[in-house]
Amino acid sequence: MALKSSTFSLFLFSFLLSTITPSFAHNYPPKHTQKSLRKPCKSMSFYFHDVLYNGKNSKNATSAIVGAPAWANTTIIAGQSHFGDLIIFDDPITMTNDFHSKAVGRAQGLYVYDKKEVFTAWLGFSFVFNSTEHKGTLNFAGADPLMNKTRDISIIGGTGDFFMARGVATLMTDAYEGDVYFRLRADIKLYECW
Ligand SMILES: *[C@@H]1O[C@H](CO)[C@@H](O)[C@H](O)[C@H]1NC(C)=O
Ligand SMILES: *[C@@H]1O[C@H](CO)[C@@H](O)[C@H](O)[C@H]1NC(C)=O
Ligand SMILES: *[C@@H]1O[C@H](CO)[C@@H](O)[C@H](O)[C@H]1NC(C)=O
Ligand SMILES: *[C@@H]1O[C@H](CO)[C@@H](O)[C@H](O)[C@H]1NC(C)=O
Repeated sequence: MALKSSTFSLFLFSFLLSTITPSFAHNYPPKHTQKSLRKPCKSMSFYFHDVLYNGKNSKNATSAIVGAPAWANTTIIAGQSHFGDLIIFDDPITMTNDFHSKAVGRAQGLYVYDKKEVFTAWLGFSFVFNSTEHKGTLNFAGADPLMNKTRDISIIGGTGDFFMARGVATLMTDAYEGDVYFRLRADIKLYECW
């Protein structure tokens, strides 16, 4: 009797397995990995403005060097492509390229200059939106080879209006003034929207 029921369970199990497995196979790989379906579900463009503290502009600086290599200091950006400098920022995000236009949120996080031979940084930051259009965050991470006219970084998640969002942002240096000010344009394309 015991043997019979376990044989039956085994039969039932393999029967269930054979009915379930094809549906797994059908759903994998996920549909959005198909190239033809790689169209953004949402596209947006913003500017953000970084005013780096340089020993004189503590009033309007939006970023500061908080870590520097032993051969440099946290007042003046280091030589050798700023290698080793760690910068924390809280930059206004605007819809237009005008620094003084109304901010829709803040870009908050850090960048680290990480190559001596050429200007390149690693970015980790959030867009924290606080406007009538958008409330919530988008979280960015990735390498920024900033001598490239455009460079793509990952949008690894989001909250609020951007719950579970993922995508790619194309960054462009829209303007810069010496080592003190730069403005980036971010063309955001989300490929996962909820
Ligand atoms: C920051 O303040 C300085 C001195 O007040 C000013 O010259 C400069 O234009 C300001 N920078 C920006 C980006 O507003
Ligand atoms: C920081 O470094 C710069 C350039 O290397 C130098 O001119 C400046 O005096 C240094 N500042 C401090 C506070 O050490
Ligand atoms: C968001 O904006 C509102 C209205 O301008 C303001 O009262 C609030 O403090 C802001 N919140 C944050 C987190 O900046
Ligand atoms: C940077 O630009 C070069 C040539 O312009 C290109 O080959 C390279 O793929 C770009 N790199 C990134 C990370 O965008």
